[in-house]
Amino acid sequence: MHGAAAWPLPPIVAHRCGGALAPENTLVGLDVAAAQGCRGVEFDVMLSADGVPLLIHDETLERTTDGCGRVAATSAAALRGLDAGAWFAPRFAGERLPTLDEALARCTTLDLAVNIEIKPSTGHDAATGRAVGHCLRQNWRSFAPGLLLSSFSPVALLAAAEQCPEYPRGLLVEHIPADWQARCIAVGAIALHADTRHVDEALTRTVRAAGYRLALYTENDMVRIARLLSWGVDSIITDNPGANYGLQGVIHTP
Ligand code: G3P
Ligand code: MG
Repeated sequence: MHGAAAWPLPPIVAHRCGGALAPENTLVGLDVAAAQGCRGVEFDVMLSADGVPLLIHDETLERTTDGCGRVAATSAAALRGLDAGAWFAPRFAGERLPTLDEALARCTTLDLAVNIEIKPSTGHDAATGRAVGHCLRQNWRSFAPGLLLSSFSPVALLAAAEQCPEYPRGLLVEHIPADWQARCIAVGAIALHADTRHVDEALTRTVRAAGYRLALYTENDMVRIARLLSWGVDSIITDNPGANYGLQGVIHTP
């Protein structure tokens, strides 16, 4: 690759919609991120039993809803009846699991750039990538605030790319593997999204010098966020969406 591709995300990206300030993967989380001055969000998208892409992180419902069982075995109608906010704090009772369409509509209204993490339930990699890509192709041919797809699943990324090749892709990893560039090429990724704990300055500069973008998750320490940005990391996914304010004067525009 020569020269870095255009990058659709701001330097600070809120993790799972609103980071630590709201129930994860909810519309109110998007509102909270925007209210904190954050200009971009990451969220996780999984399929219901009947193939509807919705925002949720776990394959099972117990941790973040009042339901039980597997997301992949539950219809969208049943998922939409669950409470996805009360577990976090009583004042968020009544929050629902948003569909991908609902979340993207809210992000448009709030002018939030989006990192869709395609999060397939086990064995549903291609179907999940395809459904996310199909949703974008049908309803979101353009997305003014900026949009990027990422996944730990190469199969899901490729399935999404078949539906909407125009949206940039990032390959999610924990450690950056020795063959990272070949893996990015295999899925047409412009970026690596890696665990912040396993990245140092030399690795950052290697990735950036090769013309790839680098996003890191999940970094909440302001001092380290500033250091990572000074190394040339493009975006930091954080549970602290208010980091924008603390980093004024430090943040560069990629
Ligand atoms: O997309 C970055 C980050 O969200 C990956 O980890 O488990 O929070 O989805 P996780
Ligand atoms: Mg995620």
